[in-house]
Amino acid sequence: MTRLLFATALTALALSWGFSGQAQAQDAAAGQKAFAKCRTCHAVEAGKNGVGPSLAGVFGRKSGTGAGFKYSDAMVAKGVTWDDASIAAYLADPKSYIPGNKMVFPGIKKESEVADLIAYIKTVK
Ligand code: HEC
Repeated sequence: MTRLLFATALTALALSWGFSGQAQAQDAAAGQKAFAKCRTCHAVEAGKNGVGPSLAGVFGRKSGTGAGFKYSDAMVAKGVTWDDASIAAYLADPKSYIPGNKMVFPGIKKESEVADLIAYIKTVK
């Protein structure tokens, strides 16, 4: 019995490792779910700005250049092109990546969640 429990525990451990390894890959569907925490401020429809700028077409765009949104000087001055690396750095810690930017968001600690969000952002054009 003890041996069986031990084997079960090992299997569960192996499974969870397997799944967390998988989660490192970008998953747009999971990203769309995670985007719930962005949606209060960001629309994904072009030209629809709210508290934050529309994120339609943001991938590959320069920071602070979305049409019709009043960005902070810091966001414009950063002048970074939004790609996998820059979005990941920004979402992990918005305040230290762009000091003085006005996105009031604490950041996301989970790397897999950031990867999923980026996969989703790539799909909104
Ligand atoms: C409380 C509102 C708020 C939330 C929540 C929020 N943002 Fe933002 N976001 C903003 C604002 C405001 C800006 C513009 C910042 C500036 O101009 O300094 C911005 C800017 C951005 C930009 C740069 C846009 C550009 O055109 O350069 C990206 C990318 C971004 N946010 C992604 C996200 C993602 C992804 C999430 C969810 C994980 C999120 N934001 C959550 C308000 C928010």
